[in-house]
Amino acid sequence: MKARLRAVAPYSGFQVGAALLARSGRVYLGANVESASYGLTCCAERVALFKALSEGEREFDAIAVVAPMTGATPCGACRQLLAEYAANAVVLTADSRRPREVREFEVKELLPAAFILLPRDRQKHGKRSHPS
Ligand code: THU
Repeated sequence: MKARLRAVAPYSGFQVGAALLARSGRVYLGANVESASYGLTCCAERVALFKALSEGEREFDAIAVVAPMTGATPCGACRQLLAEYAANAVVLTADSRRPREVREFEVKELLPAAFILLPRDRQKHGKRSHPS
């Protein structure tokens, strides 16, 4: 709820807040930041995740997301990033007008069969005709 107050959402007026709990115990807040070139907008969830990752966090236990509507859940892009970096985090969502009504999800159920690419040194490809 506190994170939402920092949303930069002049185009949609749709203010979203996220709070990401890292294993370290620290909580990273994020709010959506919009661009006049709409597609460049970054959701609250990704802002929180990028803040935490860039501060060195690598393990996450939970992310709470509050939006001004009932039933909002993280978008597909955020689900992909959560699957890559916060696969074990519990996802809590709520309507900012009814903050006590919390829904709970696992990242795996939000994005089943996620695309995950192993780090390069752990990839095992079949034999290639051209070494790269
Ligand atoms: N948005 C988020 O920040 N998180 C979500 O889970 C859904 C959508 C933002 C993106 C955009 O700034 C606005 O909400 C309307 O889509």
